[in-house]
Amino acid sequence: MAVRYELIKTCRQSGARLGRLHTPHGTVDTPVFMPVGTLATVKTMSPEELKEMGSGIILANTYHLFLRPGHEVVREAGGLHSFMNWDRAILTDSGGFQVFSLSDLRKITEEGVSFRSHLSGEPLFLSPEKSMEVQNALGADIIMAFDECPPYPAERDYVKASTERTYRWLKRCVKAHGRKEDQALFGIIQGGMHRDLREESARQITSVDLPGYAIGGLSVGEPKEMMYEALEWTTPLMPEDKPRYLMGVGSPDALVEGVIRGVDMFDCVLPTRIARNGTTMTSQGRVVVRNAKYARDFSPLDPECDCYTCRNYSRAYLRHLIKSDETFGLRLTTYHNLYFLLKLKEQVRRAIKEDRLLDFRDRFFEQYYGSTE
Ligand code: GUN
Ligand code: ZN
Repeated sequence: MAVRYELIKTCRQSGARLGRLHTPHGTVDTPVFMPVGTLATVKTMSPEELKEMGSGIILANTYHLFLRPGHEVVREAGGLHSFMNWDRAILTDSGGFQVFSLSDLRKITEEGVSFRSHLSGEPLFLSPEKSMEVQNALGADIIMAFDECPPYPAERDYVKASTERTYRWLKRCVKAHGRKEDQALFGIIQGGMHRDLREESARQITSVDLPGYAIGGLSVGEPKEMMYEALEWTTPLMPEDKPRYLMGVGSPDALVEGVIRGVDMFDCVLPTRIARNGTTMTSQGRVVVRNAKYARDFSPLDPECDCYTCRNYSRAYLRHLIKSDETFGLRLTTYHNLYFLLKLKEQVRRAIKEDRLLDFRDRFFEQYYGSTE
C-alpha cells in the first residue's frame, strides 16, 4: 500500500490520536497541518523554507493545475515532486470542491461536472475518471476521490441525492485509479449537516477498502458548533487503523477541537491567505500588523515565537512592508503563520503523548481567544 497509518497511542484524557503516516516521500507525524500550495507552490515560500519550519506534507489542487499549466506538462516534468522541487509528501485534492467554488456555469450530471474555466472561459469537464487521470499524472502521494460538496444550507433531498452520487463516484474512482501501488486514494465522506445522511455516507465510503478517509462538506458556512457535532457523528464510524482527514479546516480552535474528535490531518488556506493582507496568528491571538498602533512597535510579532520572522524583525517593520506592498512583508508574515500552526500541532502531539490534551486546549484557548483584538 502506498500510504500506511500507524496509530501510536490515544490520549487518555481526550481520546485524541497520535500517529504516523508513512508515505513514499517520508513519514509524517500526526495530527498534522498541511500548508496549501494550490498551484504547486505554497504562495511566497520556497521548499527549503517549508522544510526548515518542519512541514512534511503539503497540498496542491487538481482543478487549478488541470487548468494551468495542464497535467500533461506536470507529467512531462516527472510529476509534481520534481516539477516543484519538493521531495516530501504531497496530497492533491480532486477538483470536486474547487469546481463548485470557482468555475462558472457548471452543470452536474451522473457522468461528471461540465464547467467553464474561471481563467479563460473555455468549456471543460471533470469526472471521477478524469480526476484520476489528472491526479495520476500529477503523482502526489495521496490523491482524493472526486466528490460533490453540497452547499450550506441545502435541502435534505438534494444532500441525499448528492451524497449517494459521491458514493457512486468513489467506486468509479477506485476503478479508474491507475497507480494504486504508489498513490493512496482517500474516499470523502459527505452528508451535509444531517445526522443520518452523514452516518450513511460514513458507512458507505468506509465500506470501500482504502488507505485513508476524509470528512468533506464542513466549514462551508455552518456554525462552528455544528461542525463539531457533525465530527462527533462521523469519526466513531471510521476505521481506527486508517488516517482521517478533515478537509479545508485550519483555524487554531478547529485544529485542536478536531483532534479531540479523532481527526489526524488538516489543511487550510487561512494562515497563508490572511498573512498576505497583514493578519497574523500569535500566542496572544490575532495581530493585524497593518494597524496604525504598530507603527512604532519595535517588539517582535510574537514574543513567544522563535521563527525566522520573530527572531529578526519588529511589528513596525512588518507593518511598513505590508503597507508598502513589499513582497518581503508577505513572505515574513506567511512564514510566521505557517510556523505558528505547525508549532501548534507539535504542542498538540506532545499533549496527546502526555495524556493532557484537554488541559492544553483550555490553556491555549484562554491565551489565544481571551485576548483577541
Ligand atoms: N475541501 C474542503 N471541503 C472539501 C470537500 O468537501 N471535498 C473536497 N474534494 N475538497 C474539500
Ligand atoms: Zn514567529
